[in-house]
Amino acid sequence: MRGDLDRVLFDEPAIHRRLDDIAAQISKDYRERELTVIAVLHGSLMFVADLLRRIPLPLKLECLSVASYHGKARTSGEVIFNQITLPDIVGRDVLILDDILDSGNTLAAVRETLETAKPQSIRVCVLLSKKKQRAREVETDYIGFEIEDEFVVGYGLDFRERYRNLPYIGVLRRELLDQPDK
Ligand code: IMP
Ligand code: MG
Repeated sequence: MRGDLDRVLFDEPAIHRRLDDIAAQISKDYRERELTVIAVLHGSLMFVADLLRRIPLPLKLECLSVASYHGKARTSGEVIFNQITLPDIVGRDVLILDDILDSGNTLAAVRETLETAKPQSIRVCVLLSKKKQRAREVETDYIGFEIEDEFVVGYGLDFRERYRNLPYIGVLRRELLDQPDK
């Protein structure tokens, strides 16, 4: 799989060092409060597991599964929620965790939907944020790394459901993006 990458952007130690910083910040900001973490699956799986183990606060964990990509490298704009009921977050301090902010469609839809469930507060934390013009602006409170507008995989992030298990994050070779779906 390493051969499919153009280059590695963040290796395991770099990711873990950054998680130490974000976790410390979140732990400080939510001291004396009880967090409800909402993980946006599947991409955020590794990030959530590694980040939450660094946050020594009482918290609840809920998972949402959404689809916006349909296995392609470009966003379709439409965001589909894969569950019928949303977590009960009335009066709760909610922290949304997602892998990457790209067009903004996914996080804008997730945030909007959760807001209708009357939480006390909502913040957003993403591991990666692409520097680009977005289809929808999303306010983010915690960002792991800002990256250029390139397609990245690994550490939870996939291309056509592959590469999620790479322990590092890298840029996928361009020519692989343009290959027809098998
Ligand atoms: P957005 O709705 O365009 O902001 O994209 C959100 C979702 O698209 C993310 O949660 C990812 O699952 C996926 N995505 C966006 N950019 C990338 C990328 O560079 N690599 C892998 N997945 C991506
Ligand atoms: Mg995702």
